[in-house]
Amino acid sequence: GEQNGVTKLPYEFEELKPEEKKELARLYASEPDFVSIGPKRYIFLRPYCDDAENVYNMPLRPSDIFVATYQRSGTTWTQELVWLLANNLDYETAAKIPLTERYPFLELFMFFNKKWQERLLERAADKEQAKALIEKIAKPVTGRLLAAPSPRFIKTHLPMSLLPPKILDTAKVVYVARDPRDVAVSCFHHSKLFRVLDFPSPFKDFWNLFIRGLFTELPFFDHVKEAWECRNHPNMLFLFYEELIQDLPVVIRRVGDFLGKELTEEQMARLCDHLSFENFKNNKSVNFEELREYDVLSPEEVFIRKGKAGGWRDYFDEEMTEQAQRWMEDNLRDTDLRFPNI
Ligand code: A3P
Repeated sequence: GEQNGVTKLPYEFEELKPEEKKELARLYASEPDFVSIGPKRYIFLRPYCDDAENVYNMPLRPSDIFVATYQRSGTTWTQELVWLLANNLDYETAAKIPLTERYPFLELFMFFNKKWQERLLERAADKEQAKALIEKIAKPVTGRLLAAPSPRFIKTHLPMSLLPPKILDTAKVVYVARDPRDVAVSCFHHSKLFRVLDFPSPFKDFWNLFIRGLFTELPFFDHVKEAWECRNHPNMLFLFYEELIQDLPVVIRRVGDFLGKELTEEQMARLCDHLSFENFKNNKSVNFEELREYDVLSPEEVFIRKGKAGGWRDYFDEEMTEQAQRWMEDNLRDTDLRFPNI
């Protein structure tokens, strides 16, 4: 129902089942404080509850561009592509201002709860720097977005059902999907990269949580299918990571059409070079290495990691491969969504 122009979030927050909590506590170094939202049981870290309704009601502008994905599906890559096309290939600004600042990330703050903030402040040699980091990553961005100049570029891993219900009537959304087996491997490494998640158990354990929907913003197939349903809307562009891997210029042209931008051959060549895995890995404006100085990253892992399609094969034994096959078949039965086979 609507009251004072605010629509109540039409979903309930629920605690996980005791046996799920027990298993998470067994597998994680510190039990993540997950809650589930709605009948699909999307998993969030508890602080998200505080801003879920603000996100659901966020005022939109026709110039807004969202890059939305299930995490580790090529968000960063697509963000840089979209931003450069929308900003007339302004490489200079792209190099100067980190992607994290060009794109407020709707639910980033949920990873850094009060306890994390207190510990950071306690341990920090430079308290002012620690406070600045907290402002930057541990606070909801919905308030800041109200005053942000247009056009706004927004990053999110939220499923469509938790974004404003009429988002596509106003704003543009670029959604990227990726083979869930590669996503799971990438999320596993991501959970090692970010100390707040801290998953020391083997990949097989992570995979079993993943297919049961016990990781942030899962279940995977509900997430992707919600966006897939909207793929024919003129304000939605649905991409696959595998398409970017296979033929980047084709995808760039599709994004260009979507945003009303055309490129010359020369501009296309430069953009492809800029977006290449090797250049990306070394690009300080996009590779998250800026966070190293704050000690939130593990030294053994990097954000721009392998950049391959099909790398999952090195992580799956026969049993897991079959299990994945069955899981994907079961979840693709009621849809014409198919991941590109490359
Ligand atoms: P891997 O961990 O499989 O290497 P996100 O930005 O959504 O978190 O996705 C991260 C994934 O995209 C990582 O996958 C990362 O390496 C990959 N990626 C990032 N930039 C890329 C690029 N320029 N080319 C190919 N893959 C890239």
